[in-house]
Amino acid sequence: MTKTILVTGGAGYVGSHACKALAAAGYTPVSFDNLSNGHEWAVKWGPLVVGDVLNPDDLDAAFAAHKPVAVMHFAALIEVGESVKYPEKFHRTNVTGSFNVLKAMGRANVDRIVFSSTCAVHGDVGGALIKESSPIDPISPYAKTKAEVEGLLADFSLSDGLKAVALRYFNASGADPDGELGEAHDPESHLIPIACQAALGQRDGMFIYGDDYDTPDGTCLRDYIHVADLAEAHVKALKRLDGAVPGVEAFCLGGGVGTSVREVLDCVKKISGVDFSVKLQARRPGDAPSLVADLSKARTVLGWTPSHSDLTTIIKTAWAWHQKHHHH
Ligand code: UFG
Repeated sequence: MTKTILVTGGAGYVGSHACKALAAAGYTPVSFDNLSNGHEWAVKWGPLVVGDVLNPDDLDAAFAAHKPVAVMHFAALIEVGESVKYPEKFHRTNVTGSFNVLKAMGRANVDRIVFSSTCAVHGDVGGALIKESSPIDPISPYAKTKAEVEGLLADFSLSDGLKAVALRYFNASGADPDGELGEAHDPESHLIPIACQAALGQRDGMFIYGDDYDTPDGTCLRDYIHVADLAEAHVKALKRLDGAVPGVEAFCLGGGVGTSVREVLDCVKKISGVDFSVKLQARRPGDAPSLVADLSKARTVLGWTPSHSDLTTIIKTAWAWHQKHHHH
């Protein structure tokens, strides 16, 4: 009998790639999504339950109908700028939503969860490599909600015997190497899809937000991690929870390399063959100059090594997806 995993946000970008990886590993992913940002077309490897983490009845019904053995929890609002404008909405969806998921797990006697967290819980570490033991010091309301949920996981491990892994992603990017899935946020705010859209002529060029940072070429350094590598890490985290003791373990997931905004744009231009217009704008509020992961713990403890996260593979898969699926 295959094991069923409830995947909240399974119709979203990282969640849908995780569903594909789960299916490849022999699990049945059940996507639980309100389709506010997710897409029905992205649910291909198991059933879709349209439901909301803010509605405990929806969650109870999904647990009762599908009897999952564990949860992967992706459902959340993710845009940092929006979180500054609407902190209440972010706290409700991300924190109350997670609380509802944990309570529903308790009622259904499910004690394992893999949680989608962010490197942003560490805030701005001043250019040092970020590791799991780096201070937790979130800056944006978005990052604060993720840090708060990591705290909830710890509380529930003590009260309910919860076994949890929190995966702190760096910059999720790229698309399924088989071309079955990709990134489709609306509106789009992330660098690589915006550059692909500019190369396709879907937008009239694009902007670099600041080139006066204290970095090699003056633009921000980010650690791009291919979404298929992230998906693989989720499966490894889930397996690690088999037979684990109650508690929370965190892992930083990046490619381990800092890449500048200019390097990303040069690579998109090279791979697309389109010299789209790039203009300079003022810094975007809240951007840290450099965010790069130390992968030691993920490598040694989780046994995970990214294999698709070189910039060329990331951009090639993203570009292939955007070319074929710009109607999404
Ligand atoms: N950028 C541009 N022009 C654009 C878009 C982005 O110059 O049109 C720059 C940004 O200023 C930043 C870099 O490209 O320096 C990457 O920006 P993204 O918006 O793609 O990604 P972020 O690093 O801001 O955000 C990502 C995730 C968040 C997460 C954060 C943690 O999207 O969910 O990493 O740092 F919180």
